[in-house]
Amino acid sequence: MSEDRVCPHQLSRVLDSNIRKIIHNPKKILKPYISKDMKVLDVGCGPGFFTKEMAKLVGNSGSVTAADLQEEMLLFLKDKIKNTNLEGNINFHKTEKDELGLSDDFDFILVFFMLHEVPNQRKFLKELYNHLNRDGKILISEPKFHVTKKDFQESLNIINDIGFKIIERPSIFFGRSVLIQKE
Ligand SMILES: C[S@@+](CC[C@H](N)C(=O)[O-])C[C@H]1O[C@@H](n2cnc3c(N)ncnc32)[C@H](O)[C@@H]1O
Repeated sequence: MSEDRVCPHQLSRVLDSNIRKIIHNPKKILKPYISKDMKVLDVGCGPGFFTKEMAKLVGNSGSVTAADLQEEMLLFLKDKIKNTNLEGNINFHKTEKDELGLSDDFDFILVFFMLHEVPNQRKFLKELYNHLNRDGKILISEPKFHVTKKDFQESLNIINDIGFKIIERPSIFFGRSVLIQKE
């Protein structure tokens, strides 16, 4: 996948719109996987459409890392949570195009509508593998309008090669989705 597939930060408001909450209700999508005290990562967080809900679900004693390639996305999210009680448990991390450069390990990782934008999926997913706790889970969802069934199957093959197992195929509107865990 090429660099020009990266979603422009000018689309922040579209990604973060209230209308989207009707089709991608963050609480409904995330609640089965996130609970209090967890350490979670929203990778390719964009404007933080899911990050805020993740912070609510982990509570004050948990933590969320919001990671994105584009500084503008992180600034949008920072601005959105300024002076709210979520400010204390969201950390911000600017990634590089071909390296996440994470220093922590996580109980849950969200990869929502972003994997197809990553130039080297194998390298990216291996990095996530190395930063996932033993019983941790990763939810990946890819947009049907950008990712064909065949493209998604290629990602699933990589996921399998790396040593993940598929534990669920959640149904997410407009999405091709999978929940994975270490084998
Ligand atoms: C389509 S947006 C989705 C944002 C968010 N996950 C959502 O569902 O609202 C994709 C995001 O992934 C980010 N992204 C693309 N490639 C990335 C990479 N290699 N590392 C981190 N973030 C990346 C983009 O900057 C963009 O914010």
